Amino acid sequence: MKFSDRLGKLAPYPFVEISRIIAEKRAAGADVVTFGIGDPDIPTPQSIIDRLLTASQHAPNHRYPETDGLPEMRRAIAEWYEKRFGVKLDPDKEVLPLIGAKEGIGHAAFCFLDPGDIALVPDPAYPVYGVGTMFAGAESHIMPLYERNGWLPELDAIPSDVARAAKVMWLNYPNNPTSAVATQEDFASVIAFCNENDIALLHDAAYSEVGYEGYQASSFLQVDGSKAIGIEFHSLSKTYNMTGWRIGMAVGNADMIRALFQVKANLDSGVPQAVQEMAMEALTGPQDCVADNVKIYQRRRDRVVKAVRSLGMDVAVPQASLYIWAKIPEEYTSAKMAQLLLENLDIVVTPGSSYGKYGEGYIRLSLTTPDEQVEKGCQRLESWHIPPAKRG
Ligand SMILES: Cc1ncc(COP(=O)(O)O)c(C=O)c1O
Repeated sequence: MKFSDRLGKLAPYPFVEISRIIAEKRAAGADVVTFGIGDPDIPTPQSIIDRLLTASQHAPNHRYPETDGLPEMRRAIAEWYEKRFGVKLDPDKEVLPLIGAKEGIGHAAFCFLDPGDIALVPDPAYPVYGVGTMFAGAESHIMPLYERNGWLPELDAIPSDVARAAKVMWLNYPNNPTSAVATQEDFASVIAFCNENDIALLHDAAYSEVGYEGYQASSFLQVDGSKAIGIEFHSLSKTYNMTGWRIGMAVGNADMIRALFQVKANLDSGVPQAVQEMAMEALTGPQDCVADNVKIYQRRRDRVVKAVRSLGMDVAVPQASLYIWAKIPEEYTSAKMAQLLLENLDIVVTPGSSYGKYGEGYIRLSLTTPDEQVEKGCQRLESWHIPPAKRG
């Protein structure tokens, strides 16, 4: 059988491989603690589930949804954006529900990129920006993110011919995997750069609602000029513990939203309407669950930071997002450190190299693990010492 070249270019999706290892270990009787994937362990709030139960009885919801979603859903998204960020959106032109942000991020590449085109892609980063670019036949120009810059791209380091040729730039704050945050001034610099070079800006704000000690992330759409050049991807996955229901949204520039709609209309049939009703309930209902989640993650954050520091690893306390991004001893690769933790402690972490070359030297620990597992994992870390790396 002859498969496509692009399939050959795909590395295994990091979490597919990690799930396989966990299953294997558990089958062998190991008590595995996983700080791997960012998938909330806390159930979806009951009011949202109740809405699904009602919506599932409604026969029109058993049929194909429209690609652009229910008008009430688009309105609920626009109202949420206005309430949360003070950003006004036209629900009919500037809002598009997605089957999870991942789906929209992957499909967005087809709206902007042809073979040979250039996309500006951060590294380390959520892998889908680069994969979507590759699927479209385009090239990723990597924007390395360094700790010394607060994990923001060095715009001055992008060669001017690359900047002029680039068609899109990907950004993501609060960031996965580094947990870094961006200010409105940071967004303004990027918007100016994209304007100057006629680059479409694609911002992924999947973690905007997980902020600690009162930190509230900005939407890049709060910044002047943003809507002229960009769209923002959002997700209900992390905010409302809804990863399993697959719902998110893209909002912003009307032409870009229309382009994404056109691609999606040809490839998928939109979000199941009963799931859209769940999302409406989430966005318009009481928001206590969001603060309750953050309280839980904050407690876990502090516990994990303490345990990781006891190993002598350097780690910043994140202001937002679900991840602890820890610097490992230089003599180890991140894959080797992840393997060591799995073999010695039955602990799963994600190697920084899964997020690109510039993620090397770090491991990521997700806080979406039940409290007693977090405690068990932390105790194992605290009763261990990193052995000296073997040479050769
Ligand atoms: C940065 C980032 N964007 C998007 C997603 C996917 O979100 P969704 O579940 O809405 O597809 C994730 C999932 O982990 C993520 O880390």
